[in-house]
Amino acid sequence: MTMNAQILLASRPTGEATADNFRLVQTPVPEPADGQVLVRHHYLSLDPYMRGRMNDAKSYAQPQPLDSVMIGGTVGEVVASKHPGFAAGDKVVGMGGWQQYSLVDGGAAGMLRKVDTTHIPLSAYLGSVGMPGATAWYGLTQIIAPKAGETVVVSAASGAVGSVVGQLAKARGCRAVGLAGGPDKCRYVVEELGFDACIDYKAHGDLKSLLKALKEACPNGIDGYFENVGGLILDAVMLRMNAFGRIAFCGMIAGYDGVPIPMANPSLILVSRLKLEGFIVSEHMELWPQALKELGTMVATGKLKFRESVAQGIEQAPEAFIGLLKGRNFGKQLVKLI
Ligand SMILES: NC(=O)c1ccc[n+]([C@@H]2O[C@H](COP(=O)([O-])OP(=O)(O)OC[C@H]3O[C@@H](n4cnc5c(N)ncnc54)[C@H](OP(=O)(O)O)[C@@H]3O)[C@@H](O)[C@H]2O)c1
Repeated sequence: MTMNAQILLASRPTGEATADNFRLVQTPVPEPADGQVLVRHHYLSLDPYMRGRMNDAKSYAQPQPLDSVMIGGTVGEVVASKHPGFAAGDKVVGMGGWQQYSLVDGGAAGMLRKVDTTHIPLSAYLGSVGMPGATAWYGLTQIIAPKAGETVVVSAASGAVGSVVGQLAKARGCRAVGLAGGPDKCRYVVEELGFDACIDYKAHGDLKSLLKALKEACPNGIDGYFENVGGLILDAVMLRMNAFGRIAFCGMIAGYDGVPIPMANPSLILVSRLKLEGFIVSEHMELWPQALKELGTMVATGKLKFRESVAQGIEQAPEAFIGLLKGRNFGKQLVKLI
């Protein structure tokens, strides 16, 4: 009997997530019933939002139930199908969770989508041509809406979302400036991804120092800021925003372990007449086809570069996830399952 290794949420973290919050179990691989599709996952996506789902707290999404398979995006191959829309061998993207196989209702809207891997690698459908790419596209084009010549800053710039934000901004004729942790990530952001500058925020641990670095990297001020982190970085960027600047609130990973991260100087919103807007990409599905078309074309033609951190085997998922929350990933964090 073929077994399906699965990782369940065993307990809820207090503060940082630990490996003890997860449990590995083995269950038999199920047979598809009428209308169902059995998918073997090739890659599992690890994403910061999963940390929020581990809490039993009010949020924009329901908490992950205890003792259930951790939620997560997956790409893989159909191994058996009893749904007319799918056949064995189809490459698919879905929300299969932290497990090797998933059984999916082939007719359920948005649960499983066939993808073309002729010019785009399968794993990219979890990164630049998937949810993180769509997130970057939405926040940049719909909230920041930059004009050519403007300066766009993004935090967590070497990551799955941030790397796309800067490259899309460059493609629109903007000056793109990143913030990332450490010289290797910053070098990559400038030399490989083509940003104009990247600030190693770890080398600027106080507001004065970070602001000085931002002044050097953004001589004409900042028109758009794509926020992934929060805290000191946000406070420094706010001081450098131009009048009528736009800030897309995408994530605040510095606070995901539950420590509140206050904003030092909200009066700047008024003084600089800023627009601040938070968003959740899954609430804008109507724009995904447009976003994924642009991103897919850019990846297929080599105009959008990306990097992946790949953990091997489902049993490595908890440690890789904890590493993602501490910045140990370099690019999109994946788990290879096959
Ligand atoms: N709103 C939405 O719909 C939506 C959708 C997807 C993602 N997001 C958000 O987008 C952000 C980026 O996600 P991603 O998938 O692209 O992850 P990622 O950037 O690939 O990985 C997370 C990165 O965050 C940085 N980081 C972690 N802790 C930090 C801290 N305390 N201070 C500064 N930086 C820290 C680390 O990079 P460094 O080493 O450079 O610090 C780490 O590599 C997250 O906040 C995520 O929650 C939001």
